[in-house]
Amino acid sequence: MSQQPGLHLGINCPGLGAYRHAWRRDGIDPLGTANPEFYVRVARTAERGLFDAVFTADVPALQPQWAEQPQRNTLDPLLALTVAARETERVGLVATVSTSWLQPFELARSIATLDRISRGRAGWNIVTSYDPLVGLHHGGGPLPDKQDRYRRADEFTGVVESLWRTWAPDAIVADKVGGRYTRPGGVRTFEHRGEFFAITGGGVVPPSEQALPVVFQAGGSADGLNLAARYADATFVSAATVDAARDYRRRLDAASREHRAPGRDPVLALPGLTVTLGSTDEEAERRHDELSDSDNDATVLAMIAQRLGVDPRDIDPDAPLPVDRARFELQRSQTSEGFLRSLVSMAESGRTARDLVRSGGVGHLGVVGGPKKVADLIEQWYSTGLVDGFNLMFDVIDEAFDPFVDEVVPILQERGLFRRRYEGATLRAHLGLPVPTW
Ligand SMILES: Cc1cc2nc3c(=O)[nH]c(=O)nc-3n(C[C@H](O)[C@H](O)[C@H](O)COP(=O)(O)O)c2cc1C
Repeated sequence: MSQQPGLHLGINCPGLGAYRHAWRRDGIDPLGTANPEFYVRVARTAERGLFDAVFTADVPALQPQWAEQPQRNTLDPLLALTVAARETERVGLVATVSTSWLQPFELARSIATLDRISRGRAGWNIVTSYDPLVGLHHGGGPLPDKQDRYRRADEFTGVVESLWRTWAPDAIVADKVGGRYTRPGGVRTFEHRGEFFAITGGGVVPPSEQALPVVFQAGGSADGLNLAARYADATFVSAATVDAARDYRRRLDAASREHRAPGRDPVLALPGLTVTLGSTDEEAERRHDELSDSDNDATVLAMIAQRLGVDPRDIDPDAPLPVDRARFELQRSQTSEGFLRSLVSMAESGRTARDLVRSGGVGHLGVVGGPKKVADLIEQWYSTGLVDGFNLMFDVIDEAFDPFVDEVVPILQERGLFRRRYEGATLRAHLGLPVPTW
């Protein structure tokens, strides 16, 4: 077993950074996320920092702000990560792909292809989509109900797993003399008849060095947690307070008791963490002020309001967020319950709306500080045992990621929290996950 420290770090890159006007900064290529160099740069820096993975959130729809800012999700994440795979050797590459639109065969093949090309570093983050615009772009109508989306997700993921498991890791014998490519029983076809899919056949891509791609899941409703318990190795979590993280862990453990295969490792939980970094706390505050123009704050507030189901004008910046139980019940089928729960826990902790906006908070934890303060927060949270690491977000990735690797990672290493080198070459190895048996 690996003796590596257990803290896991990913970088999430939806767009150029969390700051809405990142593209307008000096030295930033406004077309960055539409160019392969951006993904290569991020992956190389992640690898230099010994990160577990580069992670691409994805909301594939033309967003109506095209006149004011670049689209956050431009390139197909799988293709962009494939380019990054060819320019790196160790770092994991996790693509978010919704289960609501594709056929399982297409998804299983694409992720398995990335897994082969990267030599065992691919991951798939399961989502069911939450933005109605995505429904309009893919199905032509509004999003299906969340319950239906999760029923499809469950069946979809089960089929994907069967497709991936078609080839046993030792299936290929390639006996040129005897003319046998696979050993008897090494390739197992299957037949599936379900509510959404009917499939006869098997996967075409043989297993990679990590046998099966790593499965992430994002979505904090009961159905989301049940899906994670059944299939996921790790989850991307929205938890802006320790209470929210505790509540999430309790619910995930309960779902795992009911739905996880006996003996399988517990699901790892990685909350999002938005970092505003300076060389000192004061410099970080100055940077934060510089990036907190009223326009950006209004956008963050509008997103919070939308998730809570209230009018932005009803939010008093100097009071806690307006939440009540009835509205929570109403909203949870409309929006991502994972984000909603986190926002509610922030409101209940008494923090003002202004303070939430200040922390970048659309539901994720945020920190503004110098290297030590950022490392302290990571350590403090990690030592609760409620989380296994973080999926980091930066205000402007091209300005802040290198300094994080240079200044925060060494502190985490000195404290014995984070690896000093990669022990393995696969994403599964970085996450300390066993190679699954057949
Ligand atoms: C932390 C987190 C990240 C998410 N990232 C994405 C994403 O990148 N793309 C997407 O379509 N949905 C994303 N989702 C939401 C999923 O689509 C989810 O399946 C659906 O909205 C239902 O969410 P719920 O289970 O939290 O209610 C995310 C949800 C959470 C909590």
